[in-house]
Amino acid sequence: MKIKKSEFVTSAVTKDQYPESTLPEIAMVGRSNVGKSSLINMLINRKNLARTSSTPGKTQLINFFDIDSKFTLVDLPGYGYARVSKEQKKTWGKIIETYLKTRSNLLEVILLVDLRHKPTAEDIEMYKWIKTFGFNGIVVGTKHDKIKKSQLQKHIKIVRDALGMGQDDVLVMTSITNRYGKYDVWEIFNELFEVNGYDVHFEPQQGGTQND
Ligand code: GTP
Ligand code: MG
Repeated sequence: MKIKKSEFVTSAVTKDQYPESTLPEIAMVGRSNVGKSSLINMLINRKNLARTSSTPGKTQLINFFDIDSKFTLVDLPGYGYARVSKEQKKTWGKIIETYLKTRSNLLEVILLVDLRHKPTAEDIEMYKWIKTFGFNGIVVGTKHDKIKKSQLQKHIKIVRDALGMGQDDVLVMTSITNRYGKYDVWEIFNELFEVNGYDVHFEPQQGGTQND
C-alpha cells in the first residue's frame, strides 16, 4: 500500500483534546531540535506537514497526523530546551505522562536521539519511562549525515551504553538530507502493525536507503 493522503488532524494538550480514534498510533518523542517533525515529513514525503523549526522549544503541543486513515503519527512536544522554566518542565512532564498512560491505541513510542551527542539525563529518563509504560522503546539516531563514517561505531556505542540498551533493543539511524534509514523505520512500523493484528502495510516511496 502506498500513502495517498496524510493530513494534520489536531493539536492537543489535555486528554479531552485528543482526537477520538480507534486507529493504531505511533508517537515520536525526543529533545527539542532532535528532528522529530523532520522525520515525520521524511517518512510521509511531505516538505513541511509537521512544522520544523530552527528555533527549538516552540511546539509544546501534541500534534496528530492521519496517514491514509490507516494510522496516526504523533509528534510529541520536545524537551531539554534550556530556556524554559521549572514550571514549564513540569507541565511538559504531565502532558507526556498523561498521553503515554491513557492513549489506549498507542502501539509504540519512538525515542529520537541526535547521533552527534551523548544522550542527556532527560533522554535516559525518557527511555526508562517508555519502557515503564510497557513499550519497547525503539530508538532512532537522527542526523546520521553529520557523522563521519569512521566515527559512526563510536557514536552508536555511546548512545547504546548511555541508554542502557540491551542486545535486542533496536537502534536505527536516519538522515533527512539523503533519506537514509527511511526503509528501516517503515519496516519497524509495518512490523508493529502486524504484531498488533492490524492489516496495514506500507511501501515507502520516493527514495531512501537502509542501514547496513
Ligand atoms: P521541536 O519541534 O522543537 O521539538 O524540534 P524537532 O525535534 O521537531 O526538530 P525539527 O524536525 O524541527 O528539526 C530541527 C532542526 O534539525 C531543523 O533545522 C532540521 O532541518 C534539522 N534536522 C533534522 N533532521 C536532520 C538530519 O537528519 N540531518 C540534518 N543535517 N539536519 C536535520
Ligand atoms: Mg517539531
